Amino acid sequence: MKPKVIIFENRKELYDYATEFILTELKRKPNLVAGMPTGKTVVPLYAELIKKHEEKKANFSKVKVFMLDEYLGLKPSHKKSFNYFIDKKLLEGINIKRKNINLLPGIVLSENKAAQEYENKIKNAGGIDLMILGIGVNGHIAFNEPGSPFNSRTRKIALAHQTRISNFGKIGSFFKNPKHAITVGIATILESKKIILLATGKSKAQAIKAMLKDPVSTKCPASALRKHNDVLILLDKDAASKL
Ligand code: GLP
Repeated sequence: MKPKVIIFENRKELYDYATEFILTELKRKPNLVAGMPTGKTVVPLYAELIKKHEEKKANFSKVKVFMLDEYLGLKPSHKKSFNYFIDKKLLEGINIKRKNINLLPGIVLSENKAAQEYENKIKNAGGIDLMILGIGVNGHIAFNEPGSPFNSRTRKIALAHQTRISNFGKIGSFFKNPKHAITVGIATILESKKIILLATGKSKAQAIKAMLKDPVSTKCPASALRKHNDVLILLDKDAASKL
């Protein structure tokens, strides 16, 4: 089944829709298992979820969260780490239980062992019900960079040069910035029951076109989503400008 695509006039409408969509899923299944990304795109969404919680319109007490990726070498307290991001931008603001938060570690003795343990945790949770995704300018989902096999699972990955520039900028200590990450795989993502992907802004237009219009290929990891039968893609006009 083709992904369902909705293009919004403005970002507010997009985030309102995404918020309601998640609240509906939460009402349907209070013990929802959710995959959660980081990135600028989801900041307004997470702010809305916190607001809904404060207004007592959303209850996360039974929700389980799985983060999608982390930079290798960064401690959870590092301000650029995804552990830090998700804590500050979402988890501290909602009534989720610590034991239900699953984060990929940036500091590990064995990436393979950590990856395998994470896959097992997802399996033991009954799989991911709702996978929330952003997309990189090069078409990556989580940190599955171009070339990632569609049967890939949680693993260590070398970050693309473009990703390092997008996420850290060229200036400063670029060479000291993380070169690797640990990420859930494309197969891990495709096993989710439902997937929702959000993209805003002109910088994402090319990746969105590659995801939806170009042949399905590992050149654009997000194009793998066309193999899934329950995918919803929410775009603003800029992100949809090349469709
Ligand atoms: C990040 C994450 C992805 C995210 C993407 C887009 O680095 N690894 O999960 O979807 O890149 O980020 P942004 O929303 O900041 O553009």
